[in-house]
Amino acid sequence: MSIILVTGGTGLVGKAIQHVIETEPEGSRFGKKPGEKWIFVSSSEADLRDTEQTKRLFEKYKPTHVIHLAAIVGGLYINMKCKLTFLRDNILINDNVLHTAHLTGTQKVISCLSTCVFPDKVTYPLDETKIHLGLPHESNFGYSHAKRLVDVQNRAYKDQFGCNFTSAIPTSIFGPHDNFNLESAHVIPALIHKCYLAQNNGTPFIVGGSGKPLRQFIYSRDLAKLFIWQLREYDDVEPVILSVGEDQEVSVKELTDAIVKAMNYKGEYILDTTQADGQFRKPASNKKLLSLMGEFRFTPFDEALQDTVQWFLNNYENARTGARGT
Ligand SMILES: NC(=O)c1ccc[n+]([C@@H]2O[C@H](COP(=O)([O-])OP(=O)(O)OC[C@H]3O[C@@H](n4cnc5c(N)ncnc54)[C@H](OP(=O)(O)O)[C@@H]3O)[C@@H](O)[C@H]2O)c1
Repeated sequence: MSIILVTGGTGLVGKAIQHVIETEPEGSRFGKKPGEKWIFVSSSEADLRDTEQTKRLFEKYKPTHVIHLAAIVGGLYINMKCKLTFLRDNILINDNVLHTAHLTGTQKVISCLSTCVFPDKVTYPLDETKIHLGLPHESNFGYSHAKRLVDVQNRAYKDQFGCNFTSAIPTSIFGPHDNFNLESAHVIPALIHKCYLAQNNGTPFIVGGSGKPLRQFIYSRDLAKLFIWQLREYDDVEPVILSVGEDQEVSVKELTDAIVKAMNYKGEYILDTTQADGQFRKPASNKKLLSLMGEFRFTPFDEALQDTVQWFLNNYENARTGARGT
């Protein structure tokens, strides 16, 4: 019996993994396999910043494998505002999860990093060898240093104790169950929510920044399949970038136009150039991923965006919008 514990199992990525495991044909490459038990946990079961609560969680479920997603996560503006929280809370969460996994003999841990970990000044495209070649971008140095440290920890656990710990590096993620709270959301959910408010309340649709920065977006349900692949078929400490191809960059302006179309919004939007742009671009290569797993069909961006918008519209009352303290 494999017991797979997914920390952060109630967030954007955790919900996507649960969806894939429950909807793909049983026994298929991404579906549930016989003898597997999947457990998805949130902070309400254990605050992973706390060592004792982390230990109790591991004692309760006795996981053989962990997909470690739990993190303090947010968009550009909250990252700029709360650097210490993003640094310290994420260091605590990661250290508790990895050390408890080591102490309890967990067979494998995959932790989730982010392309934010890469240096600001680096040659593109990003690849798995470039994480530690320089300082990350100033806008998110708290979050990115905490995430980088996971790669260092994984190597040290392997070196000293032979642990099978590794990491995944996704680009910007979006999909159902995202965080649409305008205080902390990433760019896609923030723009969907702003467009919704403009459409329904007649408020101005203001897009932060120049619209020029480029990003690579991955649909959460595609990413979920890649995590499941990595869990079952990849055993190496070296991280793997989980991303669409580097030729799939989208500008914030193109993204806004796609959201306007998906929402059927008839009004205007304003690019507010007084707001920060963040890093201009950070294209990442998925060559290693594809060379290891072979063919993979990514959902076309417009289709994934349409699904996300539809999910948001259908679930507005319960989505994380900032209303009701969500
Ligand atoms: N979203 C992106 O664009 C993006 C891009 C690259 C990498 N990532 C990485 O992907 C992973 C998943 O992100 P996500 O977007 O799915 O995040 P999310 O939707 O904000 O979900 C975060 C999850 O972590 C849990 N969590 C937060 N603080 C916790 C704590 N102290 N103890 C236990 N659990 C805690 C949350 O539980 P509650 O619901 O109970 O708070 C929730 O289940 C993270 O490691 C993130 O760094 C995200």
